[in-house]
Amino acid sequence: MNILLTGATGLVGGELLVTLSRRTEVNKIYCLLRSASEEVAMERLEHVFNLHNDPFDRNKIVPVLGNLFDDNLTEALQQNEQLKDIDVVIHSAANTSFSRFNDDAVEKANIGGLTKILLWAKGLTNLQTFLYIGTATICGKDVKDRVIHEDESPNLEATHLVKYTYTKMKGELLIREHLPEEKILIARPSIIMGDSRPIIPRSPVILWAMATINHLRLIPVNEHAQLDIIPVDYAANAIVRLLFSNRRKHSVYHVSAGEEGATTALKLSETLSAYFDEMPPFNFINKNLLNQVKHWTRGRLSADSELYNYRKYLDYWKETFEDKSKLRVLFSGLDPYLDFMELGHVFDNTRLLEDVDIENSTPADIYINESMKFVEKLDIMEGAIDP
Ligand SMILES: NC(=O)c1ccc[n+]([C@@H]2O[C@H](COP(=O)([O-])OP(=O)(O)OC[C@H]3O[C@@H](n4cnc5c(N)ncnc54)[C@H](OP(=O)(O)O)[C@@H]3O)[C@@H](O)[C@H]2O)c1
Repeated sequence: MNILLTGATGLVGGELLVTLSRRTEVNKIYCLLRSASEEVAMERLEHVFNLHNDPFDRNKIVPVLGNLFDDNLTEALQQNEQLKDIDVVIHSAANTSFSRFNDDAVEKANIGGLTKILLWAKGLTNLQTFLYIGTATICGKDVKDRVIHEDESPNLEATHLVKYTYTKMKGELLIREHLPEEKILIARPSIIMGDSRPIIPRSPVILWAMATINHLRLIPVNEHAQLDIIPVDYAANAIVRLLFSNRRKHSVYHVSAGEEGATTALKLSETLSAYFDEMPPFNFINKNLLNQVKHWTRGRLSADSELYNYRKYLDYWKETFEDKSKLRVLFSGLDPYLDFMELGHVFDNTRLLEDVDIENSTPADIYINESMKFVEKLDIMEGAIDP
């Protein structure tokens, strides 16, 4: 099997690359990545393996230079003789930013970039499978506090918290415009955070949100809302098994914790409390108080505000962060994560468990124990600048 993989330098793509490289059925993995030169591209790919001392096979892993923003990306891929025998395309590259400032880039990468990949892939003589790494969060924000099934999305009526999930939903529709059903495989992971193994996590991104919550301690979110979180090693393992499964009955699968593996902010806070016992106890308050927090950081909170009931925490913030502008930065980075946490989404994983030889994921409040040393060292201010 010859694979073209995009996004190999990212959280999910990196773990997919390493997992795929171990499979004997796989002959070559061509990795589309942006880079100034082949040499630097090879170094970036080697780094993906070096992070956890995984063996890197230069004969199996081949860099292909390209950017989803390139106008001539489709033509460049079509003209690349090495790619004529590709059987499987795995599209994991995306702009995953939640920030409104990146909306244009998100659209350009996730819709424009995907279109260019599809225009090339549909012309491949041997294409068996186009595996798209989607996201379960395309269900949008109208559904709340319940189990969500694959067939509920894509739904053009859904409203979205961020442009990112909208573009990922449009992406699924685009794929169906270009490719026949039998060639499509869509894996929709839920929220991917850290790793369940005692190794340095591949990316700090969502761990950053947890580390920030740990520092803040007074959190405007519903602590009982279900959180569907999985570790990246589980996600990659499940997706690769899905690709190789011959029991596959569907073209769309949630790769998620499901009802049995879901957690809550309360359970995560209990795990954190056991390690960081010198901080004030966690206190979860109504999400509506986030606006008061923002006003307080600007020195504009009126004296009779409810937030003053939590003066002990405001004093702790003053002492810990000194400069209130730091808190503003932290809360604006955290804001979309709190919105997602409040939704109480659990993504049904029955399809995955039935069709693929894999167990349920360990709940995040348990597996995250393996990453506590790393969480302790995370620079939350640095993460807040580009959450
Ligand atoms: N992380 C999650 O919680 C999660 C959950 C559900 C679904 N997903 C899906 O999983 C996929 C991968 O996400 P991730 O978390 O691995 O994201 P990530 O860590 O941000 O990685 C994104 C990857 O896309 C590449 N990329 C971005 N813009 C590009 C461009 N213009 N041209 C070429 N490559 C580009 C990046 O390359 P550079 O290294 O060059 O930047 C990187 O390899 C996405 O499709 C996402 O929707 C993620």
